[in-house]
This record gives sequence, structure tokens and C-alpha cells, in this order.
Amino acid sequence: MASVLSDLTSTLTSALSNLPPPDKIQDADRMQLLGVINQLQSALEPPQLPIQRFCFSHYGIVVIRIAQGMGVFDAFVKSQGKEMSLKELSSNVKGDDKLLRRIMRFLSAHHIFKQTTSDSYKPLPLAMVFGTGSVPGDMIKHFHTNMQVTAKLFDYFELNNYTNPEDAYDAPFQLAYNTKSHYFEWLSQNPTKQEAFNSVMTQSQQYRGADWFEIYPVQERLRVSPDQVLLVDIGGGVGHDIAAFKKHFPDLPGKLVLQDLPQVIETIKEPLPEGIIAISHNMFEPQPISGARAYYMRTVLHDFPDRQALDTLAQIRDAMSEDSVLFVHEHTVSEDLDVPPIAATLDIHMMEIFSSLERTEKEWIALLEKAGFKVVKVWNEESVGQSTALFEATLH
Ligand SMILES: C[S@@+](CC[C@H](N)C(=O)[O-])C[C@H]1O[C@@H](n2cnc3c(N)ncnc32)[C@H](O)[C@@H]1O
Repeated sequence: MASVLSDLTSTLTSALSNLPPPDKIQDADRMQLLGVINQLQSALEPPQLPIQRFCFSHYGIVVIRIAQGMGVFDAFVKSQGKEMSLKELSSNVKGDDKLLRRIMRFLSAHHIFKQTTSDSYKPLPLAMVFGTGSVPGDMIKHFHTNMQVTAKLFDYFELNNYTNPEDAYDAPFQLAYNTKSHYFEWLSQNPTKQEAFNSVMTQSQQYRGADWFEIYPVQERLRVSPDQVLLVDIGGGVGHDIAAFKKHFPDLPGKLVLQDLPQVIETIKEPLPEGIIAISHNMFEPQPISGARAYYMRTVLHDFPDRQALDTLAQIRDAMSEDSVLFVHEHTVSEDLDVPPIAATLDIHMMEIFSSLERTEKEWIALLEKAGFKVVKVWNEESVGQSTALFEATLH
């Protein structure tokens, strides 16, 4: 038995030293290998290791958030990744040396920095991505805000007798932040949190998978004259998707419209590419653009339980003409037994913030049909650990 394990250790050690650089590995190969590694890990580890992970994994985000607050990552970004002694670092950040040393010890133990001597630190690649204004840095801020809700989830269910949340105004979020506002109203009153949210929504292709217009044959099917509206991106955030669409099809005729709440549209810093009109619009009110060729919503409806999702779908349906098409681009939870942990976790996340849920493909189709749409086709796609689908729906 010992020799089987020692052979395995040698094989893995040699596989590690022969591993190609991360940017040369295809996503599908990476996920396949990680799947096997995960299975190996769960077969090998004694129960105390997963128990430790369950009990202690939340410290990571908190300590990174503290290091952000002290200015640790910004100091290393500013010095372009130069190794620093504790003394030098301390003169560039907030807080006292005793705390700084403990924070740096944690971050080094978690492979964000490498401790090179008893009091000097070299940033590893991960340390350089958490600075102010970066999307991963904003992810930490945003999910740290949401983590306050996670901490109250148990209290919420003790109070409501373990009933599945269905009301977006009575989610664990309202209990945790002691508010009656919907999460999006509350965000609009907290500009720095709103900004982190907007930034997280622009997160890179790497996390998001393919753009819908790489999946759907846009050129062949979505043709309009230059004065007609080609596409309305509803809840399109700060315009990252519609700008990518314009970049992909710079010469496709037709107007492009971005819609989101005023507190999002007003934060758009760079002018959007020519040909895109940004409109502040609440999607629960009548849709102001009638008869567009296509209406598109990406990960907007998953923020809402069925009642509100149906309300907003009704507004879109009323604005559509016979040749309009609605695209709903969403996460899907598999009906199979093997739901990836990230999909199951996002479902709990949707529940705690919005009383919403991650839906299966069947649940999405049922929702669209209940809203009076015909689902013409479902375009499935598998991105890093997360299934998504583009639902193409028409009036009839
Ligand atoms: C999860 S984000 C998705 C953003 C973008 N579609 C994407 O996939 O990156 C949901 C978006 O819906 C917007 N939203 C929420 N409630 C809305 C409403 N009542 N009317 C219009 N947009 C809304 C939010 O401001 C946010 O930008």
C-alpha cells in the first residue's frame, strides 16, 4: 500500500514539474484535470480537512479585505511588485506593524505573498490583482459586503421556520442590513458599494464564458435597417456586453440601446462606442423601446423570484412586435446529480440577497412560457465550472 502511494506521489510530483504554463492550458483540459484532482483529494483526505475548510474558509476574504483597507495591495502595485521589508511596507500602509505582520503571515501562508526572510515579502501574481479599482479587488469588496448577509442566514431561517424565501423585500439581506429596501435600492444609496457591484458585473471573459453573439448566428438572423433598433440590452450594467457586441459587429446596421437603473447608467465613465444609446430605465415600468428586433437580458432575471421576473417579462412582451426576439442569457443548474459547487453556491447567494434562485433549464422554460413566450431554441454552453444557456424566445 505504501508503495502505491509513494508511486502516486512521484507521478504527481513529476506531472507538476512538467505542467505547461497556465496560459497555455485549454479550459476544457484544465477543468477535466481539476475534476480528477478534486476526486483524488476527497478520496484521500481524512474528515478533519474538509471540516477545517468549512470552518475556516471565510477568513480568506476577510483578511484580504483588511489588507485592502490597510493599502497593502496598492503599495505593492505602486512599487510594481518589488519585494519589501516589513518596515518599508509599514511606511506605505495604514495600521501598526504588529497587525501588519500578522496579516502578511496569513497572506503568505495562503500563497498570496511569499515570505522571503523573517520580515520581507515578495508579492506572488495573486497579490497584484487586488489593488484599488481592479475587478478582482472589487469582487472581494462586493462579496465581503454580501458576506454580512451569509452570517445572518441561519438566524433568518430560525426566525421563519425554515421556509424557502420567495419575497425579494423579505430576504435574509433585509434582516442582515436592517432595511426594508430591495438590494438594488439599498445599493443605490451606498455609492462605493454600487461601484464595486458595477465593476464585478464587468468581470472578464475568462469568468463569463462565451458572449451570446458568438453562440447565436447574429449576422444571418438579426438584420434591420439603420434607423430601426437592432438590440436592447436590458439591465446591461455599464454597457460592457453591448460595447463588446458593437466591437464584434461594427458595421451591422441598426441602433443599439443599453438600459439599466439610473444609479448604474450615471456611473458610466468612458463614452460608449458610437451607435449605442444609454437610457435609464426601470424594467418594471413599460418598456419605452417598442418593436426592437432583439431584447437581451444577461443574468438579470436570476436576481428575481418568479413573481417579479414575470412582471418584467410582461413589460418586454408588451413592447415586442411579431418579429421581435427575446434572448435570456442565464446560468442554469443541471438536472443531473453532479451540480458543480459554484452553481449550488450561487443558488444560495441568490436566495440570501434577493429571495431568488438559480434555475434549471426546465424552470427557465416554464418561466418564459408562463410569461407568454414561445421558447424557440436553447443554446447551451459550458464555461469554467458553470453552465449557461441562451434562451431564444418569441411571442408565438
Ligand atoms: C447581475 S447584473 C447583470 C449585469 C449585466 N447584464 C451582466 O450580465 O454583466 C443585473 C443588472 O440588472 C440591473 N437591474 C436590476 N434591477 C433593475 C431594474 N428594475 N431595471 C433595470 N435594470 C435593473 C442591475 O442594476 C444590474 O446591472
